[in-house]
Amino acid sequence: MDCFITGTDTGAGKTLVTRALLHALAVHHPRVAALKPIAAGLGQYDGETLNEDVALLRQAASARLALDLINPYAFAAPTAPHLAAAAAGVRIEVDLIAQRYRLAQAHTQVLLVEGVGGWCLPLNEQQMLSDLVKALALPVILVAGIRLGALNHTLLSVRAILADGCALIGWVANIVDPSYLYAQATVAALQARIQAPLLGTVPWEVGGDPRVVAAHLARAGELLATPRSRVQKGEADG
Ligand SMILES: Nc1ncnc2c1ncn2[C@@H]1O[C@H](COP(=O)(O)OP(=O)(O)OP(=O)(O)O)[C@@H](O)[C@H]1O
Ligand SMILES: [Mg+2]
Repeated sequence: MDCFITGTDTGAGKTLVTRALLHALAVHHPRVAALKPIAAGLGQYDGETLNEDVALLRQAASARLALDLINPYAFAAPTAPHLAAAAAGVRIEVDLIAQRYRLAQAHTQVLLVEGVGGWCLPLNEQQMLSDLVKALALPVILVAGIRLGALNHTLLSVRAILADGCALIGWVANIVDPSYLYAQATVAALQARIQAPLLGTVPWEVGGDPRVVAAHLARAGELLATPRSRVQKGEADG
């Protein structure tokens, strides 16, 4: 099943969780990949000018996809996408991303799509990130960065995802502050207030190794391993 990975904020752990999910999915499928349709901020990776998330996601994928499918919009300015796009004289087009997504689907069994920043994010003067998620008809997994403030960020994100008419199929608690003593209590408080299932709790792993993280996300891996055709058929059956 394809899925959109959003987070409570930038740095919540979307890329780390997405890379870990690719490892978890590799047990079930030989051809999986992740897209980062919109990326802001570029660096040098293996002699190529790329966004860091794009380089990491491409490396973690078992299906090889062309860069213009993985990342149609790469902006130099390390800022909010619609500002970075404006600085580059470009308008982010949801239709173009949807077209590249469909092409990438043809080469993969499961596609994960990493968002950008948090949930309430403008893409252009008319559209928000949720318009992209709806255009791709993707269910959503929310990565909650667990630190002081996570209750507010996570509960607001859940409300916004549902209010935007998107399907939240689960959330991941990612401990991003190893010194926060109330991380487990915070996760429990969130679990009691979020209807969607908690798909895994990722401890703070020094170095953030996605293979180690994958061991904490087996439930998410199993959920996403459901073949696309079966999900579509299930939806058609109502
Ligand atoms: N549980 C963790 N243990 C150790 N390091 C972590 C953990 N979660 C995240 N990190 C590290 O924190 C940083 C931010 O995580 P990540 O890049 O996955 O966030 P993001 O939500 O994708 O951010 P962005 O908005 O920039 O895409 C990375 O260096 C990552 O390796
Ligand atoms: Mg990222």
